Amino acid sequence: MTDPIKEFTEAFERAKKKESGDATACALATADAVGHPAVRMVLLKKVDERGFVFFTNYGSRKAQELDENPFAALCFYWPALQEQVRVEGGVARLPGEESDEYFASRSRSSRIGAWASRQSEPLASRADLLARFVHYEAKFALKTVPRPTFWGGYRLEPERIEFWFDQPSRLHDRRAFTRGVNGWTLQRLYP
Ligand SMILES: Cc1cc2nc3c(=O)[nH]c(=O)nc-3n(C[C@H](O)[C@H](O)[C@H](O)COP(=O)(O)O)c2cc1C
Repeated sequence: MTDPIKEFTEAFERAKKKESGDATACALATADAVGHPAVRMVLLKKVDERGFVFFTNYGSRKAQELDENPFAALCFYWPALQEQVRVEGGVARLPGEESDEYFASRSRSSRIGAWASRQSEPLASRADLLARFVHYEAKFALKTVPRPTFWGGYRLEPERIEFWFDQPSRLHDRRAFTRGVNGWTLQRLYP
């Protein structure tokens, strides 16, 4: 197969059926302006030819790093498929309407939680967080909870996608796709 997005989508669907855990969970690596890396888990909410979409707080550490250095990598591991997928590329914020659409699909409590969290900022006590949640619950009582402007999605536009399959004797199968002007090129790699 020479279309890694199609290959990813098919594997993702298989993983969602077979994994006992959350197959949408992936590690997101970013780096700051001087190249110091940081990694954390996020959930992949959408994937198509345009890229890989996740959502977060635009004031968070990851968002600050993406402002400084708009490149990132994702890593999925699906034990039930014995498969790892690595994705690398530039990252851009989603248009507001796309974030609005996803935000509206979230549960009311998740939407209020987004308002309550100043993600990655110091928190004096858990009580402070709960008080903020109660505050926004009251503020939006009987109203639609709008998307905070400080919350939304990113799309990672892949330049490189690598599929790794577990094989006997550690002779794992690695296929790396790199995007060029004429589409994707495939290169096999030693394990
Ligand atoms: C399985 C899992 C999924 C997560 N999904 C998200 C997510 O989609 N978006 C998000 O902002 N944080 C998510 N988190 C929390 C992040 O890992 C992280 O703690 C948070 O985003 C703050 O990271 P930062 O300080 O580097 O910005 C998830 C955590 C776990 C364990």
